[in-house]
Amino acid sequence: MKDEIVPGLHPLLAARWSPTMFDPIFELDADHTELLVEAARWAPSAGNSQPWAFIVSRRGDDAHPRLVRHLAASSARWAPSASVLVANLSHRYVEGTDWEYSEFAQYDLGQAVAHMTVQAQALGLFARQFRAFDRKALENEFGVPDHWEITTMSAFGRVPDGTGSSARRPLDPARIRRPAGELLWTE
Ligand SMILES: Cc1cc2nc3c(=O)[nH]c(=O)nc-3n(C[C@H](O)[C@H](O)[C@H](O)COP(=O)(O)O)c2cc1C
Repeated sequence: MKDEIVPGLHPLLAARWSPTMFDPIFELDADHTELLVEAARWAPSAGNSQPWAFIVSRRGDDAHPRLVRHLAASSARWAPSASVLVANLSHRYVEGTDWEYSEFAQYDLGQAVAHMTVQAQALGLFARQFRAFDRKALENEFGVPDHWEITTMSAFGRVPDGTGSSARRPLDPARIRRPAGELLWTE
């Protein structure tokens, strides 16, 4: 399998991949954790609606076991060892109604999370976004009201020595991409 890195692609994008193995010793300090939130804060959103919120937990803090307890079996194998776990919330509906708060709420949240992952990469960290958790149970755990949704979670941290460089990233079948030519819409 070819590990293709296209010349000219920004190194932060070219070197990004989503590990399922994090260094269980490495701790991210509060300042760097805040930078991840800051990166999300400066993401664009429809009408500047900023339809996002984040439950941010550093491994060892009070929120960490409350997040870990609701992971699915698959993510429970690797996410607890990440330095930081984040639950990504979107403002889906207008309070007390079933009207969409913004038809772009999930789009905007995704973009904010993408900003976080690029900021993480710039800090020498890796990120894996995931849906493998019990959404309802987690929303109940943190008292999330019906008009908000915990859409995804993210895990941030360092990878164990020897797996971090782009040259050595795993040749994982889950990373195979459609050719660029296929992405261009043709009538
Ligand atoms: C919205 C979303 C949900 C995801 N859910 C999971 C998940 O539940 N479990 C998991 O191991 N990876 C999950 N992933 C990670 C993807 O599988 C991964 O990004 C994809 O295989 C591409 O690999 P790469 O990020 O290394 O390029 C998710 C990613 C996104 C963006």
